[in-house]
Amino acid sequence: MSSIEVIGGEQLKGELKIQGSKNAALPIIAATILNKGTTVLKNCPKILDVFYMVEILRSLGCIATWDGNTLYIDSTTVTSTKVSDDSVQKMRSSIYFLGALIGRCHEVTIAYPGGCSIGKRPIDFHLNAIKKMNVIQEFEDEEETILHCYTSGITGNDIFFDFPSVGATQNVIMAAVLSTGTTRIFNAAREPEVIELCDYLIEAGARICGKGSAYLQVEGVKNLNGVEFTLSSDRIVAGTYMTAIAATYGEALLTDVPLKNLDSTIRILRKTGCNIDISNDNCKISSVRRPLPIELLKTQPYPGFPTDMQSQLMSILCLADGKSTIMEGIFESRYQNVPELVKMGADIELEAIGNKAIITGVKHLHGAIVDAHDLRGGAALVIAALTAQGTTVIREATSVERGYEDICRDLNSLGANIRFCSENVA
Ligand code: UD1
Repeated sequence: MSSIEVIGGEQLKGELKIQGSKNAALPIIAATILNKGTTVLKNCPKILDVFYMVEILRSLGCIATWDGNTLYIDSTTVTSTKVSDDSVQKMRSSIYFLGALIGRCHEVTIAYPGGCSIGKRPIDFHLNAIKKMNVIQEFEDEEETILHCYTSGITGNDIFFDFPSVGATQNVIMAAVLSTGTTRIFNAAREPEVIELCDYLIEAGARICGKGSAYLQVEGVKNLNGVEFTLSSDRIVAGTYMTAIAATYGEALLTDVPLKNLDSTIRILRKTGCNIDISNDNCKISSVRRPLPIELLKTQPYPGFPTDMQSQLMSILCLADGKSTIMEGIFESRYQNVPELVKMGADIELEAIGNKAIITGVKHLHGAIVDAHDLRGGAALVIAALTAQGTTVIREATSVERGYEDICRDLNSLGANIRFCSENVA
């Protein structure tokens, strides 16, 4: 079991460049299948989730090679339409191959993804939508775990989402780009990563209108062409490091920050009392005082405050001068960090009604042995550990590698005392 060991108490200072975006990379890697040519994907983060997606692409017959942070994908030939059960177990984002393979090959076999640590995460929106696009769905086994989808041809239709699901919006877009007719998506997700998928596909020849709004229109085209595309930087990684700098009373400059996608995070961090100066793609962040509490922080679909930043904000609010309330509005089980933070001396109560966490700030956290239950929860424990008195060991650190290229390298470059350990920790 790998772990991260942090000796707390160092103020973060210096300069750091933000890596490419995980949530933009994952759907676009799947979408490269729609284009019978070569995609050159620049600024691609070298993280576990991306490696898993590349593994799936190769298992489907595509050729993928790396040169630094540039990923070359040749999807001229697809030799299989089966996404292995193993891949689906490893990562939920393998569900993006549903839209991509049905769009390109008119067939896909994929295991039904299970729940994950942050909640049930069903795929009913994805399946109901593509069913309306002339896709037949059958389970291959009695246990109903392996789904076989096929079509004589995808036809555009009107799709209404009860909730603006990011993944379902992206899957419908991928299924629709090579279809016959027009697909209209109502209550589409507006996350920057949906826009980025549209940008990539439009660059490759797709016809999509309305990107960034809750109404999208995709007009099917016959084929897509090869394309060179640069991924934006990761808004959640940027937000994580901004929070870490503020929590340690540090002062640092982050470069390549996707500022236009970070409004709600910057607004909340400023409310906690830290200073944030922005110019071009740079962001200077500093803090000299104990954080102020936030009366109510509610996670919401974009442009609201992102659920993927909730755990990190909770870490800084543990140290606030007063009481804060968080309401998790996207995933039902995203408070697994709470018992871990409590081990470090935090004062947090959970209320089932409203999915609320009530955090009474304490003056100091102390080191402890804690477990990272999910990617952002693990990063949030790193933030708490940086501020804590003494040493913290964060077990199950592999979950952090799913989304951060090298969190220890990055934070050490800002003066933290943090290291990755691959040996067993009792
Ligand atoms: C994406 C992000 C994830 C982020 C989340 C919400 C990627 C790779 N992942 O996940 O980091 O936390 O958006 O911003 O981009 N739902 C259903 N049925 C469905 C689909 C979703 O009920 O078919 C529910 C989910 O259980 C959840 C909510 O809708 O409660 C939002 O999920 P969704 O937007 O689909 O998240 P993901 O695309 O999985």
